[in-house]
Amino acid sequence: MAKINIAVLASGRGSNFKSIVDEINAGRCDAEVKVLVTNNPEALAITTAQSNGIPVEVLQRKQFASREEMDTRIKETLDRYGAELVVLAGYMLILKGKDLLESYKNKIINIHPALLPAFPGADAQAQAYEYGVKISGVTIHFVDKSLDAGPIIYQEAVDVSGCRGPEDVAARILEIEHKAYPKVVDTFSRGRYVVEGRRTRFVKEN
Ligand code: GAR
Repeated sequence: MAKINIAVLASGRGSNFKSIVDEINAGRCDAEVKVLVTNNPEALAITTAQSNGIPVEVLQRKQFASREEMDTRIKETLDRYGAELVVLAGYMLILKGKDLLESYKNKIINIHPALLPAFPGADAQAQAYEYGVKISGVTIHFVDKSLDAGPIIYQEAVDVSGCRGPEDVAARILEIEHKAYPKVVDTFSRGRYVVEGRRTRFVKEN
């Protein structure tokens, strides 16, 4: 199997990043994290990177005149580390740079804590709780210029009935996120996803 070189973008706690690193270390995810890029110098994700010998690049919004300029620097960083797949794991800024999105078209993936197209944007778990849905879930999708509306790669339903608040919904979904994201990253080492309109189809290669 061909190991895939990935870059991870994270802004905070980084539990999804950690689940990917743990699965790589356990030999169940055929990837290598070449770099962690974060916009938050306080991100807990940095600790995970450091304890696993993964380089960290901190790129903060205030360093740049515009989001376009920031995203160009992100693109240059991804190029420099040879990222074949870019994994957004709780990266809380919307990628806007044309250059970045075009250069990495269908190579950037994101995990969202709801069954898209339901509950896009921030606080998806709270939106689901307020709506009173009994089933929510996890979506892993390609990132494009839309907000959480890129082609869907993977979805899994999560029973959120009986949850007592948004935190409860988030915890149930997060447990599934931690299993799903490393598995999906691993699939990129064994093939590719063909995007046809809004649909994706996996083609096995290795
Ligand atoms: C995760 O629940 C992820 O799905 C969500 O942020 C959390 C990050 O947790 N992402 C979004 O809401 C993106 N719109 P983590 O930092 O512990 O991985």
